[in-house]
Amino acid sequence: MPTLCHNFKYFSPIKAVDFNYNSLFVERKMTQIRLNKSWEIPESLTTNEDEFFNRRTFLKSSGLLSTTLLLNHAGVSAATSGFPTQRNPKYNLIEAEKITEEKYVTGYNNFYEFSLDKEDVKDKAKHWKTEPWSIEISGMVQKPSTLDVNELINEFGIEQRVYRFRCVEAWSMIVPWDGFPLRKLIEKAQPLSSAKYIKFISFDDPEEAPGMKNRSYPWPYTEGLRMDEALHELTLMVTGVFGKPLPNQNGAPVRLMVPWKYGFKSIKSIQKIEFTDQQPKSLWNELAPQEYGFYANVNPEVDHPRWSQAKERPIGSWFFQKIPTQPFNGYAEEVSSLYKGMDLKKNY
Ligand code: MTE
Repeated sequence: MPTLCHNFKYFSPIKAVDFNYNSLFVERKMTQIRLNKSWEIPESLTTNEDEFFNRRTFLKSSGLLSTTLLLNHAGVSAATSGFPTQRNPKYNLIEAEKITEEKYVTGYNNFYEFSLDKEDVKDKAKHWKTEPWSIEISGMVQKPSTLDVNELINEFGIEQRVYRFRCVEAWSMIVPWDGFPLRKLIEKAQPLSSAKYIKFISFDDPEEAPGMKNRSYPWPYTEGLRMDEALHELTLMVTGVFGKPLPNQNGAPVRLMVPWKYGFKSIKSIQKIEFTDQQPKSLWNELAPQEYGFYANVNPEVDHPRWSQAKERPIGSWFFQKIPTQPFNGYAEEVSSLYKGMDLKKNY
């Protein structure tokens, strides 16, 4: 059964040039994949120190470091309206030096429609055309419609917010996302009072996205939020990062960002939004309900069945550096009231 990529281990002799989250280029050839046993730690937590230094040396000698920076936004074809953005001071409370370097944010990605290999997504997605792009709004709404993303941006405007981003795989980043509050889109759609949830549906195009040829995943990628979560002011529809249109690998042209939840809730490349009175099924919840709950709130006290969630590894830091994970990813003050009276161990 397919599971989130921490369940895969690559046995990969280093061959030539590739990109790794520890700032380095190496080329890897994937020769074997096997499913981890339940007691094994995730692949994302296992960077070998020798490999790290070898890559560094290679990088310096080949001069590839600067090339990476130039190529970071190559192949962009996302929603291009709304730039330049202003950083919203209300969401700029994390020290600037803690922001994850752009090359990691745009070079270490989970986007299963393109590849299971985080370091390969950028390359596999680079020719994908995502402009023009529209979102279909349906279900329990007064105004079912199909809306062009650039027109939405022109109507709502976009701003920049620096958010913590915590993956269920126990790594984290701090990222300046550009976008507009989902609330604005909900107000435009005018949901019926009977609508209690929103379901988000990504694209379905196996011709363009090679990972989708693996039909053991219940494509398209889906996610869902309770209406009050969706209306919360922190919930953002993201169309850019680092003040530029969202690169394909990060979910162009428009993705969700719910910073108090694990990263898998932040569905990329949204094509449909459905208002409903039923709690939506999500791709991961359907595949492994005992591992990936509907709520997926970041919680250091509720471990994943196969590893601890008490700590996280900031991407770009030394592989052994771990910091404590905060309840609701540091946004408890803003969002804990949404879950008052709920047993968060059961509603994981
Ligand atoms: N959205 C789609 N459509 N497909 C995916 O595979 N992966 C999720 C989420 N959204 C995913 C997705 C997971 S597991 C994570 S951690 C984040 O996207 C990764 O976002 P990033 O690549 O911008 O860091």
